[in-house]
Amino acid sequence: MQLLGGVIDPELGSDIVELGMAKGAKVEDGIAYLHIDLTTEGCPLRAQIQKDIRARILSLPGIERVKINWGVLSQDEKAEAMSKARFNVSQNAPDTEIPSTTKVIMVASGKGGVGKSSITVNLAAGLASRGFTVGVIDADIWGFSVPRMLGLDDHLESKDKKIVPVEREVGDGLLKVVSMGFLVDKEESALMWRGLMLNRAVQHFLQDVAWGEMDYLVIDMPPGTGDVQMGLAKMLPRAEMIIVTTPAKVAQKVAVRVANMGRNNYLRIVGVIENMSAFVTPDGERYEVFGSGGGAELAAEVGVPLLGRVPIEAAVASGGDDGEPAILNAGGPDGGPAAAELASIVDTIVSELVPPVEMAGCSARMLDLATAALDEFDAQQAADS
Ligand SMILES: Nc1ncnc2c1ncn2[C@@H]1O[C@H](COP(=O)(O)OP(=O)(O)OP(=O)(O)O)[C@@H](O)[C@H]1O
Ligand SMILES: [Mg+2]
Repeated sequence: MQLLGGVIDPELGSDIVELGMAKGAKVEDGIAYLHIDLTTEGCPLRAQIQKDIRARILSLPGIERVKINWGVLSQDEKAEAMSKARFNVSQNAPDTEIPSTTKVIMVASGKGGVGKSSITVNLAAGLASRGFTVGVIDADIWGFSVPRMLGLDDHLESKDKKIVPVEREVGDGLLKVVSMGFLVDKEESALMWRGLMLNRAVQHFLQDVAWGEMDYLVIDMPPGTGDVQMGLAKMLPRAEMIIVTTPAKVAQKVAVRVANMGRNNYLRIVGVIENMSAFVTPDGERYEVFGSGGGAELAAEVGVPLLGRVPIEAAVASGGDDGEPAILNAGGPDGGPAAAELASIVDTIVSELVPPVEMAGCSARMLDLATAALDEFDAQQAADS
């Protein structure tokens, strides 16, 4: 039930446990039996909710199958769910400014220097190049590197008391980026910020940024399991986590702790990316500089898929230095094996593991939107006359 609490009804914007839609869950012989009631029969969002539920429940070690018994909320239950959703929207919400339809992916690692930031910017750019609107939070407040890696040298502006993210168009898509790097003038001055303030800074990035509509939000986490990571996990229980590791055994050991932290906060672990896998020469010869197998072992230990193995390639490092993520060359004449692997990871994310929310719309949200638009229209007319 705790895991189901991370499944948001995209239309109502609250989680299915709070809305009273998750009626029961039991596990027998590796099979999870769930009873879920929806607002209407044949709700087009059912496929979306089902995908989310399956992904989360199957991420629990020991569960091999998920069986869902679907039902429909009674009129009273439906009314209660709607009023809860409205209450959440009007009262406690927005806990964060992140839309409920945005898929949140945290890129985490045990050790530093394994390539989290490089993976973050490449995944974000890859998603944007497929036409999505992608937010990026550089939660590595101290060691921010996202601005440089995305070629952004700008200052955060504010409008109506909200921070406006720095934008960059990528193909048909859009990146919206916030980083401490846009607030301080020099990389060194960020070092003076103390722990407490770091945590507050991240909170601001969730609560006080005018994010607007976004399909994905990718978060570059600081390494390890400190206060910032714990704070983020608590504030975004619906987030999903990707763990980056190198093939080395030491990296793998500390990465398990990050996975445990995620699980303890009921986050779903999407999978592991092994970075800095073998160095491949132009002739195709492989050198396993940092050893081999760490990614696969970590994935097996955590019980999640290995999403891919990104080789060591100068193009990844120089892409970071030049602000042009290597993935943008995938499939082109300058695209090497690292770009191709990164692109295939993005494909897996979009098509299988973390598909975007498609707003087919059942009832409530559409109704609310229409009502709000009409109210605004009326107010405008009243003002004009
Ligand atoms: N696959 C790769 N091939 C070549 N160089 C890489 C690769 N991945 C990362 N690098 C380089 O390794 C260095 C460390 O990567 P990055 O900054 O992304 O790691 P990080 O985990 O974010 O580090 P930190 O913990 O300091 O934030 C960078 O210089 C980056 O360009
Ligand atoms: Mg980094």
